[in-house]
Amino acid sequence: MRQVYFDNNATTPVLPEVFEAMRPYLLEQYGNASSIHSHGQAARAGVERARRSVAKLLGCRASEVVFTSGGTEADNLALFGILAQGDHLITSSIEHHAVLHAAKRLEELGSSVTYVPVDSCGLVDPDDVRRALRPATKLISIMMANNETGVLQPVVEIGKIAQEAEVYFHVDAVQAAAKVPLDVTRIACDLLSISGHKIHAPKAVGAIYVRKGTFLRPMLFGGSHERSLRAGTENVPGIVALGRAAEIAAEGLQNGSLEKIGELRDRFERGILTHVDGTGVNGAGAARVANTANIYFDCLDAEALVIALDLKGLAVSTGAACSSGATERSHVLSAMGLAPDRARSSIRFSLGKHNTDDDVDYALSVIPETVARLRELSPVTRASLE
Ligand SMILES: Cc1ncc(COP(=O)(O)O)c(C=O)c1O
Repeated sequence: MRQVYFDNNATTPVLPEVFEAMRPYLLEQYGNASSIHSHGQAARAGVERARRSVAKLLGCRASEVVFTSGGTEADNLALFGILAQGDHLITSSIEHHAVLHAAKRLEELGSSVTYVPVDSCGLVDPDDVRRALRPATKLISIMMANNETGVLQPVVEIGKIAQEAEVYFHVDAVQAAAKVPLDVTRIACDLLSISGHKIHAPKAVGAIYVRKGTFLRPMLFGGSHERSLRAGTENVPGIVALGRAAEIAAEGLQNGSLEKIGELRDRFERGILTHVDGTGVNGAGAARVANTANIYFDCLDAEALVIALDLKGLAVSTGAACSSGATERSHVLSAMGLAPDRARSSIRFSLGKHNTDDDVDYALSVIPETVARLRELSPVTRASLE
């Protein structure tokens, strides 16, 4: 059976070039990057080269890059590193749980949090951020691209607001990296998170940009690794892989491969909207990253569609949290004002650099018949929705 992977926002395959770059650091250059002997020095050289590559992708100095165990740790470090009891955080209702659940914990610890809403396209209004400012506001944390809809947030405008108010600004760019250019100076942010496995490096490695002069408290205590901001022996192979993936991502932003993904995504969306009735694109009215299509299929349960499509070799996702085993309604789509049934009928298709025209053709050949079959079985009739 043909296998088509349209779930690149969940994770991406490690590229062969990335694997080749990390391989020697697993087998031969296995030194501890803190050791002074030659094994350690070789590992250190790999880490520092990767730091320069990541810095180039982000438009910052190498000394401003701190490696972490992934996007979740980077987001947590930004929030817990800045905020203390009595401080105020402004974030949005559509952030990833790595930010939202950290914010909830900070509330329990005595910080206060404002969750700014989004409009029906999934966009934060910078004026809402401005209005939420208080004397106690210490940090604004807004994502650059939403993981479910791909909608790009007005981070440059929000950066200006943060700068004028002299408030720290953190950007979760986990879903933006490799999909749009990142330039921390243009965004005027103090902190920015990225994750390796979303850009063709392995899982459990990431990085955070920490602007020089930002006072950040560490979350982990131990050795003085990563300028004492992140204790723990460096994951040298993972960091080397992240560096190589960052170099490839930077090339991809120049060589037209993103335009190709955008064309495939647009053709896919047009095909679904034309051939399947009761469908629409969530977030269509806003600027979005090129690879993501979040589509509702009225009168059916998204989870059933994910399973049915998987049986046909097409890997997609509901975007809703199902780590607990029970599918919850997406907090992102709910915040956009989608009716509960429509939010539960929405599927995220996220394309990647390996996808081809044939993959789109295959998806367009299996989805309409699968949707029609499931709708016949569905207890929710169209009439009951109207
Ligand atoms: C927007 C966003 N932030 C943070 C994360 C967490 O990154 P990681 O899986 O590397 O912990 C994700 C992962 O899905 C994400 O999409």
